[in-house]
Amino acid sequence: MDTTVRSARNILGAIRLPGDKSISHRYAMLAAIADGTSRFRNFSTGADCASTVRCMHQLGARVGKTPDGVLEITGRAGTLLQPSDRLDCGNSGSTMRMLTGILSAQPISCELFGDASLSRRPMARIIEPLSRMGAKITATDGNRPPLKIHGTTLRAIRYESPVASAQVKSSVLFASAQAEGETIFEEPIKTRDHGELALRAFGVELTRQKNRITICGGQRLKAIDAAVPGDISSAAFFLCAAAIFPESNLVIEDLLLNPTRAVLLDVLRALGARINVINLEDHHGELVGTVKIESGPLSGLKISGAHSAALIDEIPVLAAIAPFTRDGIEVHDARELRVKESDRIATVAKNLRAMGASVEEFDDGLFVPGNQPLRGAEIDPAHDHRIAMAFAIAALRAKGDTLIRNAECAAISFPEFYDLLDRVAER
Ligand code: S3P
Repeated sequence: MDTTVRSARNILGAIRLPGDKSISHRYAMLAAIADGTSRFRNFSTGADCASTVRCMHQLGARVGKTPDGVLEITGRAGTLLQPSDRLDCGNSGSTMRMLTGILSAQPISCELFGDASLSRRPMARIIEPLSRMGAKITATDGNRPPLKIHGTTLRAIRYESPVASAQVKSSVLFASAQAEGETIFEEPIKTRDHGELALRAFGVELTRQKNRITICGGQRLKAIDAAVPGDISSAAFFLCAAAIFPESNLVIEDLLLNPTRAVLLDVLRALGARINVINLEDHHGELVGTVKIESGPLSGLKISGAHSAALIDEIPVLAAIAPFTRDGIEVHDARELRVKESDRIATVAKNLRAMGASVEEFDDGLFVPGNQPLRGAEIDPAHDHRIAMAFAIAALRAKGDTLIRNAECAAISFPEFYDLLDRVAER
């Protein structure tokens, strides 16, 4: 399905977003191995999290939905069921990587596969630490899906991860909670900490000192009731849309504001947007609040180092609005973007050029100069949800209509995206 996005005059309104994808994946996985029935309000509506829930159902967890939309998952009290079929992870790297951590320690054998994009993504980053724990995992060339896992008893390790990846961290922590002994996991840069917070919410004890996490094996998990905070990586599209219109005024309620995820707010403030945060609350260790954004003239910025890791899912949309800034946006240390759902450095550069912008591409990032008018164009998102949505935002200030090819891929994380955008875009 192709979608035409017309330019807009302004962004106005108040919205609430479906639950955060990273948290939803983790809650569903942990609920499936916990004792009792967990209940989740505002669970992610994206296809990726549906893949996780489907896998957990195949592994014996009972899954249901109440009439008012609460997702209920009854766990297996530690031991998953041998599935009769292969487990389909769809487009979701999070599902495959984190679930492998859980399955490595279970007394069952499984095969995990995914779509064409997931089949190209690197898995050695989890196979390496999990194998050191004793896991038995095979993959194409030792690195690509499908993954075959023969569950076994795992032993604790001391591991310094060479990649800054929250998926790797969660995968190892989920395995460690079921292993024998005390695991110490160290990451090169502090990445999103939803795995740690979710484990704690389910009753697992772990400690964190700087970038080092210590966790004991053999811990039992207990079901929780939770409301999943609105997804801040989905909010990023609306925040960036508001940022490029001088008269905008947008409120987003019940939004995830975990400091490892909310760097975008600092970046938009540094660019010139006016942002207020109110009603801060703590939900199972996750910070939640209401954000109000109004724009100002946008300057420019450089993103590198730890900031690139913290903004990894938001860089495509920041790059897509960079032509509307004064000095442009330059990104380095973001090589990981090349192994996401698409090569996001290449797909962003190609589509910005299609809209008439000049872009400088680096191995580990890109530079999009400011003050460049964009024209409506045909966008090929390469079946990557974040690319489709990023260019729907750039289209709002382009001259003429923009056609997003295969726009439905947005549903991987955010099926409501185009409808919500129509609601807040004044035309
Ligand atoms: C995620 C971590 C990031 C991010 C992905 C979700 C998570 O991936 O890009 O969308 O939920 O842990 P990496 O861990 O590979 O950086």
